[in-house]
Amino acid sequence: MKTSGGNNRVHCRPQEDTIRETTQDLKQRKEELSQVNERLVGDQRELLRQQRLAVLGKLVATMAHKIGTPLTAISGHLQLLLEDSQLSPEVQQRVRIIFQQTHRLNTVMQDLLNFARTPTLSLEPVSIPQCLDQAMQLFLPILEKQGIQLKTHYVSSLPLSSADFPQIQEAFNNLIDNAIDAMPDGGHLTVSAWPQHGPGTLDHEPGICIEIRDTGTGIPPELLESIFQPFFTTKGLGEGTGLGLAIASEIVQQHNGKLTAQSDVGNGTNFLMWLPSWTERT
Ligand SMILES: Nc1ncnc2c1ncn2[C@@H]1O[C@H](COP(=O)(O)OP(=O)(O)OP(=O)(O)O)[C@@H](O)[C@H]1O
Ligand SMILES: [Mg+2]
Repeated sequence: MKTSGGNNRVHCRPQEDTIRETTQDLKQRKEELSQVNERLVGDQRELLRQQRLAVLGKLVATMAHKIGTPLTAISGHLQLLLEDSQLSPEVQQRVRIIFQQTHRLNTVMQDLLNFARTPTLSLEPVSIPQCLDQAMQLFLPILEKQGIQLKTHYVSSLPLSSADFPQIQEAFNNLIDNAIDAMPDGGHLTVSAWPQHGPGTLDHEPGICIEIRDTGTGIPPELLESIFQPFFTTKGLGEGTGLGLAIASEIVQQHNGKLTAQSDVGNGTNFLMWLPSWTERT
């Protein structure tokens, strides 16, 4: 058998190739693994956020219920007092005011209860431009007052989305509201929508991408991560509760969609929302 050095080298070549290929393969797998890991960490944080929102919802519902029950009893007694003819007109007037204010409190509690209850989605084929236009209609006076120029770009062949119209409109309202707050001295608000397949794991799904872009103050990179957290706000007391984006993101997730933000301090912010299209299956 010939075992010359030259021949040996010829025999080693495939081995070296195999080692190189295996190393390459290992590197790729390591990369994939770290990507999966990253996604896992992201999912875990998302889960925590969802849990916090759920707990918050329950808390609000319990409080509203606990406060609502005695309020109803108080209203009942006040109503009986109002019917008492022995009361002087002055006292009657006072009781009437207390009754009206209690009624107001009752309404606030009912609103809170409605808000806290996770609404079941009623999915239907929704025209996103129509929903966006309806949302923007509400803000036209303030846009004009604040000197904000509005532009819309809707691709004409846009498919219908599988959505709950009032819920999605609420998400749009919250995004537009924030954009307005970010442009106290005027600017540009650009709203666009185009067909796009789903991002990330949803990349096979047909859907619609909606962009709400402003030329406002922007969000510093270190805060960008927190903006979807409930009660995160940079606004003053009484100006913001920090629930707008948490609610918007909750609504989008219930639709199996995605909401992300990109921002450049001093230049503006854009929110990208992805929603699935309406298919006969949905
Ligand atoms: N378009 C935007 N431009 C600049 N900052 C933004 C924008 N949208 C959101 N933010 C930042 O994210 C924070 C959270 O927004 P979010 O809508 O959840 O609450 P909020 O507007 O402060 O209060 P709320 O919506 O409950 O009235 C804001 O306080 C602001 O700092
Ligand atoms: Mg807001």
